Amino acid sequence: MSVVPYKDKDGSKREQVAEMFDNISPKYDLLNHVLSGGVDIYWRKRAIKLLKKQQPKVILDIATGTGDFAIEALSLKPDKIIGVDISEGMLAVGREKIAKLGKQDIITMQSGDSESLSFTNNYFDAIIVSFGVRNFQDLLAGLTEMNRVMKPGGTCVVVEFSKPKSFPFKQLYNFYFKYILPVIGNAVSKDSSAYTYLPESVQAFPDGEAFLEIYKKAGFINTKCIPLTFGICSIYIGQK
Ligand SMILES: C[S@@+](CC[C@H](N)C(=O)[O-])C[C@H]1O[C@@H](n2cnc3c(N)ncnc32)[C@H](O)[C@@H]1O
Repeated sequence: MSVVPYKDKDGSKREQVAEMFDNISPKYDLLNHVLSGGVDIYWRKRAIKLLKKQQPKVILDIATGTGDFAIEALSLKPDKIIGVDISEGMLAVGREKIAKLGKQDIITMQSGDSESLSFTNNYFDAIIVSFGVRNFQDLLAGLTEMNRVMKPGGTCVVVEFSKPKSFPFKQLYNFYFKYILPVIGNAVSKDSSAYTYLPESVQAFPDGEAFLEIYKKAGFINTKCIPLTFGICSIYIGQK
């Protein structure tokens, strides 16, 4: 059974995820940086650097949220970045940030579901997604859609939480993730479930080799996993 944010409510995972991110959107950026000690910024930077050589001109940022990954991708000097997300609340915060940066001519953000994208086949030079795929209702369907809209020769970069494996980091991290992070996250965001859903969804998510298997099934080739920070997070690269 898939992990959902609100176990006592009806509604699909997609609906519940959109509702949860709408609820936490005003505090999302703050909590992200505080709860990760700022290391999330490094993870996104590291991932975008992997696209430097390819120099993609048209980029799709899936599950763009408040736009941090799209903003990081500006360093690649693309012509266009389109961010899509199912949460209007997250998109509203993102649009404000992009307007403040004066980058609306390059980054546009629109409502959209990764599992049924409105773009034509083979449109994007690169696809990026940070901390989004874990929330998909159907992971294989979402990744297959991403593959469909990417040009042959393009690169897809996925950043997602993974599970550290080695002692004592695994134990310390599990304690923090299970007992400390939910207390702070739920209190500050004022959503009683969002930061309980976070560790539960990471626990249930296929990481490392298991993710690569699904990535390949979705059509990606030359796939590779790069674990970061003792394996708390991983980058998954794939090409078409
Ligand atoms: C943890 S946030 C990540 C936001 C941003 N990429 C970042 O790095 O901060 C996850 C985002 O995924 C979005 N999301 C979840 N499922 C989605 C789907 N099927 N299609 C598009 N966006 C989705 C959520 O609404 C949320 O904004």
